[in-house]
Amino acid sequence: MDGNGRWAKKRGLPRRKGHAAGADAAKALVTECRSLGIEYVTLYTFSKENWDRPKGEIRAIFDLLVRFLKQELDTLVEQDIRLHILGETAELPLATRKAVKFVCAKTAKCVSMTLNLALNYSGRDEILLACEKLLQSGIKPRDLTEEMFKNQLHTAGQPDPDLIIRTSGELRLSNYLLFQAAYSELYFTDTLWPDFDKAELHKALSDFAGRKRRFGKTSEQTGP
Ligand code: IPE
Ligand code: MG
Repeated sequence: MDGNGRWAKKRGLPRRKGHAAGADAAKALVTECRSLGIEYVTLYTFSKENWDRPKGEIRAIFDLLVRFLKQELDTLVEQDIRLHILGETAELPLATRKAVKFVCAKTAKCVSMTLNLALNYSGRDEILLACEKLLQSGIKPRDLTEEMFKNQLHTAGQPDPDLIIRTSGELRLSNYLLFQAAYSELYFTDTLWPDFDKAELHKALSDFAGRKRRFGKTSEQTGP
């Protein structure tokens, strides 16, 4: 969800106002995805690298997140949306950890959609952590399968993302779902995240619908 800061700057507003507008955009996007029947949505909310930002901005982001989680809990339950966190929650500020734990528990039985928040997330760390867990389990190297590896990732039990949308004109993955993104379709837009509305989502989805996914096969095998 990139571009909150630039969105605020363009309007002469403090960066935290950009994050607040970004949170509103996230809510609208999740609601629209839910009504379209999309079963898994992941929002890249806070990366491990984001800890290098000014302390005040970090505080504003987590305050906003806690407020938002509390405010949206009833809607999540009503819409049958399960909240799940990708990332190392033990390192989050206490109030965030509590709010996240509470909302995850309250929505644990919801099945219509899984909403992943990548929080304190790093794709490389996730891969290293999976290796660590597998080594500790004492598994023999020749017994290791892709499925077993995937089950040690934060996304265990979930399908790989079909589509990854990157906003605000940046053309990179920024340590996002590195293992899972192997065959994801990538969509880049100059639109800043707070401006990424329903219409922008539908543009991305119709672009995705026109893609030919070959997963390594030839065009003869998969059709033109
Ligand atoms: C993304 O927007 C939000 C977070 C990383 C939390 P940015 O804050 O990166 O916005 P820009 O890149 O400065 O516009
Ligand atoms: Mg940015």
